[in-house]
Amino acid sequence: MQIYKKVFRPLLFRFSPEHAQAAADFFLKQSFFKSALSHYFDYFNPRLAVSAGNVTYPSPVGVAAGYDKNCRFIDGLLSLGFGYVVAGTVTVQPRAGNPSPRLLRLPSREAIINALGFPGKGLKSAKDYLQDAQMRQRGSGKPIIVSVSGLKIQEFVDCQKTLQPFVDGVELNISSPNTEGIRTFQDPYNFEALILALNESRIKPLLVKMPPYFDELGKERILRLVSIAAKEGVDGITVANTHPIKETKLAVGHGGLSGKPLLWKTLEMIKEIRLEVGKGMAVHACGGIFTCEDAIEAIRAGANTVQLLTGLIYEGPSVAKNISLGLIKYMDQKGIKTVQDLAK
Ligand SMILES: Cc1cc2nc3c(=O)[nH]c(=O)nc-3n(C[C@H](O)[C@H](O)[C@H](O)COP(=O)(O)O)c2cc1C
Repeated sequence: MQIYKKVFRPLLFRFSPEHAQAAADFFLKQSFFKSALSHYFDYFNPRLAVSAGNVTYPSPVGVAAGYDKNCRFIDGLLSLGFGYVVAGTVTVQPRAGNPSPRLLRLPSREAIINALGFPGKGLKSAKDYLQDAQMRQRGSGKPIIVSVSGLKIQEFVDCQKTLQPFVDGVELNISSPNTEGIRTFQDPYNFEALILALNESRIKPLLVKMPPYFDELGKERILRLVSIAAKEGVDGITVANTHPIKETKLAVGHGGLSGKPLLWKTLEMIKEIRLEVGKGMAVHACGGIFTCEDAIEAIRAGANTVQLLTGLIYEGPSVAKNISLGLIKYMDQKGIKTVQDLAK
């Protein structure tokens, strides 16, 4: 939809990123707009359905964690043709996040740097919104996954126990580069203790969102976590979170890079992680997915689904439908029946 890139995006980009997001959120919340959005942007085709990691997705195109931190816009996002949404990241206590400026656009690179640091209304508020969303989405077949995080194992367990009745899966965020302390769970010993604790109370699929890696040592470290996850029966891995970067324009002096520059690295990690886990586990590609070509490459590299956040901001509300239509066209050209066959 060129009108978004020609008219609405330039208008939104005149505002600060957080004000622009607030404006977009306003529309996603209104029920009148939700049905209009659904009319224009929702798209369903049974050939796009994917079953992976004990979750069935009507389409392999999802919204990544962080767009809807407080779980308030799930219906609006799903009305844009996404097959699933990862809401959150939710923490037990409300958090103010890092000081501003904490979000920066890089339009020439179609990227964003964020140093938000988990601003959010906390677990109690998320539970109320997820409970409502679950009731409204009942029968839609579109999974709602919630991303949770914390500094202690008990905080993850509290989030999991409280929220899992209302969602189709719980994704652990141990990988935000913007929050002091959570990287302690990237230590293999602490990671295994976390998964074992969550397995005790687990009634819904468990996913882990990994950080990216940039050298052989980093790769070894992350593949070790992936193999612990596989051993302990984790259902899915999301690859990956933002890339840590120094940025003096942000108040904290550093943040996480997202968007187009991430794609090549996402594809490389998907191949390596798929090789490590074999076929049994779900692998979700996240980082730099903007187009149908990106999605095809990620699925061919070994991903079951793709998730995006920055692509939604740069490509606009038609991004999921465009990817879905592109996938169908590509499968028609190649004589491929379903998106699951695309990966073979
Ligand atoms: C503004 C912003 C906020 C984010 N917040 C979260 C978050 O709360 N939890 C999380 O797991 N990832 C978060 N992310 C990371 C995204 O989920 C995703 O991993 C990353 O942006 C790469 O995907 P993309 O290139 O499609 O944006 C955030 C990213 C951005 C840009």
